[in-house]
Amino acid sequence: MANPMKILVIGSGGREHALIWKLASSPRVSKLYCAPGNAGISQLATCVPIPATDLASLKTFAEREAVDLTVVGPEAPLALGIADLFRESKLKVFGPTKNAAKIESSKAFAKNLMMRQGIPTADARTFESVRLALDYLEQCSLPIVVKADGLAQGKGVVVARTVQDAKDAVVNMLEHRAFGDAGRRVVIEDCLEGEELTLMAFADGKTVVPMLAAQDHKRLGEGDTGPNTGGMGAYAPAPVATPALRYAIMRDVLHPAIEGLSRVGSPFFGVLYAGLMVKDGTPYVLEFNARFGDPETQVVLPLLKTDLAEVLEAVVEHRLDQIHLEWSEESAVCVVLASGGYPGKYEQGLPIAGLQDVSGQDRVAVFHAGTAWKGEDVVTAGGRVLGITAWGSSLRAAHDRAYEAGRCIKFEGQYCRTDIAGRVLT
Ligand SMILES: Nc1ncnc2c1ncn2[C@@H]1O[C@H](COP(=O)(O)OP(=O)(O)O)[C@@H](O)[C@H]1O
Ligand SMILES: [Mg+2]
Repeated sequence: MANPMKILVIGSGGREHALIWKLASSPRVSKLYCAPGNAGISQLATCVPIPATDLASLKTFAEREAVDLTVVGPEAPLALGIADLFRESKLKVFGPTKNAAKIESSKAFAKNLMMRQGIPTADARTFESVRLALDYLEQCSLPIVVKADGLAQGKGVVVARTVQDAKDAVVNMLEHRAFGDAGRRVVIEDCLEGEELTLMAFADGKTVVPMLAAQDHKRLGEGDTGPNTGGMGAYAPAPVATPALRYAIMRDVLHPAIEGLSRVGSPFFGVLYAGLMVKDGTPYVLEFNARFGDPETQVVLPLLKTDLAEVLEAVVEHRLDQIHLEWSEESAVCVVLASGGYPGKYEQGLPIAGLQDVSGQDRVAVFHAGTAWKGEDVVTAGGRVLGITAWGSSLRAAHDRAYEAGRCIKFEGQYCRTDIAGRVLT
């Protein structure tokens, strides 16, 4: 029997709660910490009030507590170089170096990598000059997509239906610096049509092991309308991801991306997330992320039978080739309960009722995102508050169970989409 592990998870959302929940079931794990965590996470792990971007304090904490493995949830600490700092200090960390994480933190870098590796994606050009970008837009066909190069918390992409909208986006990003330095450069790319799909894979620089494919629901409103959000729900496995399509994504997207990063001296260790548009059975890359997706993780991990701690350790020790992932035959659905007003302004600190009623239910997990303790009560503390995940023998069964559990939970102004997974159930 291998040594027991003390694990630190960094982050505070539904993704991190799902990671902690899964790790808590591992016989390998002796202690779980989360920085900073949330109310739900605090029931499974010791939460430490260190922000995810305070790298120096995180490092000090990991050294002091003799943490065996640190798992990085969000993109911001990766882009700041947390993996580099931990490795220099001989601390084991699950997540890519700053240079490898550029595949997410710079859309221009990712585009260049894709071009070099022949990875199918929309044709694109990168601009720093407002004038050149505006000139270019005069001759583009519509719709056209304008993206801030850097991290913009899911708000840096405009799918423009008119030349004026595209120009406004360029001026906003390059001139008004709406996203700060993230908008120092813009990528202007052709608009792709089709069905969106996420495939995440574990990678140790060489071996690539895919998870189940999932679909997210980014828009706030029913029928994929309204503003973009952090994600209003997800399901897995996505029926559109046939074995043939998964094979094509591995061969044409994930393997070439991992190989391309190694080739430039930045081997990728962690989870590589491919955000894809599937058209006529062909996958095109919309973007890469350098970490687990949120809320995709909340539907993928409940279906994983393999011990997650073993998988994460194998990645960090560069022996992922020894790992075979086993998956349940079931399906999972996650419905996000959000604060009224999100993704705009919303109230916080509202009491959440009904959590007890759901906690014992079979094949249901309530993953907390924006929650906090106020005395003895759990209250809202963010835009996306909870993700109700349920699983069962079919997407229909998982869907019905998730919505039924969701009905037990009440807080003022709560909002959820009623059509999560609807597309594949009709
Ligand atoms: N080339 C494209 N064609 C059509 N839609 C796109 C394209 N690029 C992005 N989108 C849409 O915009 C969303 C956000 O873009 P993405 O590149 O994933 O950036 P981010 O997640 O960093 O905001 C995508 O999920 C997709 O719906
Ligand atoms: Mg995206």
